[in-house]
Amino acid sequence: MASFPAILSTKSWKKLTPTDKNGTLPKFDAAMVKEIGPWLIDFSRSGMTSLELKTLLEAAQECSLKEQISKAFAGERINHTEDRQVLHMSLRDQTGITPKETSDLAVAELLRLKAYAHKIRRSEITDIVNIGIGGSDLGPKLLSQALAPFATGPKVHYVSNVDPAHLEEVLVHLNPQTTLFIIVSKTFTTQETMTNALIAKAWSEGKARFCAVSASPEKVKEFGIEADDSFTIWDWVGGRFSLWSAVGLSTMISVGPEIFDEALQGAHAADVEFKEASLERNSAVLLALWDIWNINHQNFSSVALLPYEQNLEYFSRWFQQLAMESNGKKVDRDGKKINYQTSPVYWGEVGTNGQHAFYQMLHQGTQIIPCEFIGFAKSYYKNQDSQKTLLANMLAQAKAFAEGSDHKDINKQFDGHRPSITLLAQQASPKTIGGLLALYENRVMAQGFLWNIPSFDQWGVELGKKLAKNIEQHWEDGASLDEATKALLAKIRNFS
Ligand code: F6P
Repeated sequence: MASFPAILSTKSWKKLTPTDKNGTLPKFDAAMVKEIGPWLIDFSRSGMTSLELKTLLEAAQECSLKEQISKAFAGERINHTEDRQVLHMSLRDQTGITPKETSDLAVAELLRLKAYAHKIRRSEITDIVNIGIGGSDLGPKLLSQALAPFATGPKVHYVSNVDPAHLEEVLVHLNPQTTLFIIVSKTFTTQETMTNALIAKAWSEGKARFCAVSASPEKVKEFGIEADDSFTIWDWVGGRFSLWSAVGLSTMISVGPEIFDEALQGAHAADVEFKEASLERNSAVLLALWDIWNINHQNFSSVALLPYEQNLEYFSRWFQQLAMESNGKKVDRDGKKINYQTSPVYWGEVGTNGQHAFYQMLHQGTQIIPCEFIGFAKSYYKNQDSQKTLLANMLAQAKAFAEGSDHKDINKQFDGHRPSITLLAQQASPKTIGGLLALYENRVMAQGFLWNIPSFDQWGVELGKKLAKNIEQHWEDGASLDEATKALLAKIRNFS
C-alpha cells in the first residue's frame, strides 16, 4: 500500500501558530461562509481564520488527499487491514464514478429490492420489524425517521438490543399474520441479532414473513429463509456505510422505492463533489479539516452535533458509530503507534431539547465543546411559525456561543468565543437528507486519510464480544474469570 503522511507531520501544519486555549474567535469573515451544493456552511465562527483554513488545505494537499480519495473511488483495496475495497459509493453511483463491476452488482440488487418493496407495500403487511444492530440498525433507523414526512407504507420498528425489553415491547403490539421481520446482519453471526431473530421466529409460529439481508447466503438459508427473500451485501460495503444497500430495505418499504431513489441521488451528488471538487470547494474535506483543527490544534476532544430538525433524532447516534468506530484508532496505516489524537467524541441531541438539558455546560462550563448546528429553512409540516421559532433558537444559540454577554453578576456572565459551525439547507427533502448522510460519511473517510489511520476495520469491538461468550459459558462455575467479575456474577446469581 502506498504510504501517505499524517497531516500533523506536514510542513504546512507546522506553520500553524501553537494552540492558544484562551483564544478568541476571529472577526466575521464573509469568505468563511461557504455555499456548496445544497448547503450553506458557515465557518465564520469555527475558530479558524481563512488564512488558517488555507494552511490546513495546503497540509491536506501535502497528504495527497485528492489522490487518496481517487484511490477509494477507483476500487483500490484501501481497507488494507482486511484486504478489501471500500466501495459503498457504488451503491448510489449513477454516473460511473466507481468500478463498473461493483456498481452493476448494486444496480441488479437494487432492482430486486424495489420489486420486493412494491410487493410488500401492496400486501397485507402492516408492520415491519428490522432486527439488526450497529450499522445494520442505526442507518436505516435514522433514514426512516428522517424521511417520516414521506412514509406511506407499513409501520417500521427497529430492534437492536439483546435486552429482552427491546423485542418484547415491540412484539406485544403486533399480529404475526401482518408482520414482516427483516433480519439484517452482514455476518449473520452477531449475537444480539441472531438471538432476537430466533425469538421472533419462535413467536411467529410460522405465521409471520421473514426476509434477510446478509453477506452470507448460506447462513440465511440455514436459518430457514428462502433465496427469493434473501438480499445480498458485499465485503466492499462496510457495515457502518451500508444503509444504501439492502440494509436500507425497511426504509425503502416505508417510503417507497421512488423516494429512496431520491435519497440515493442526493448521496451520489455528495460523492461527485467529494471525488471531483477542489479541496477548497469540498464540504467533506472542509468538515474533516474543522475536526482536525478542533482536536489536534485546539485540543477540544468532543463535538456536539445539534440538528434543529426533529426527524434527525437519530443523527448523532448514527454518526457516533460512523466516526468513532472508523477513526477511534491509535495505530497508523503503517502499523505504527501514533502520538496524536484521532476521533473526538461525537454526541448530541436535537434542538431545542438539548438547550433545556446540557447547553448550560456548553455556555458556561469549564470545557470548550465545538458545536455543529444543522438546520432547514422550511418544514414539511403545517406550522411554519413553530419552524420560525425553532430556527430563531438555532441562530440565537450560535450567536450566544460566539458573542457571550457581560453582566455585573459573575454567575450571569457568558464568556463567548465558543466555536460553532452552521449547516443550512432549504428543506429536509429525501435528496438533501441523502446528501447530508453521504457528506458525513465522506468527512469520516477524509479524516482517516488525513490522520493516516485504517478507518475501515473495527477490531476494538471484538474483545468484549469474546469475553461475553466466555462469561455466559461459565455462568454457574465462574471458572477462568477474574475476582471482580466473579464477585459481580455471584451477586447476579444471588439476585436472580
Ligand atoms: O460490533 C461491531 C459491528 O461489527 C459493526 O461494525 C456492525 O455494524 C455491527 O457489528 C453489526 O454487524 P452485522 O451486520 O454483521 O450483524
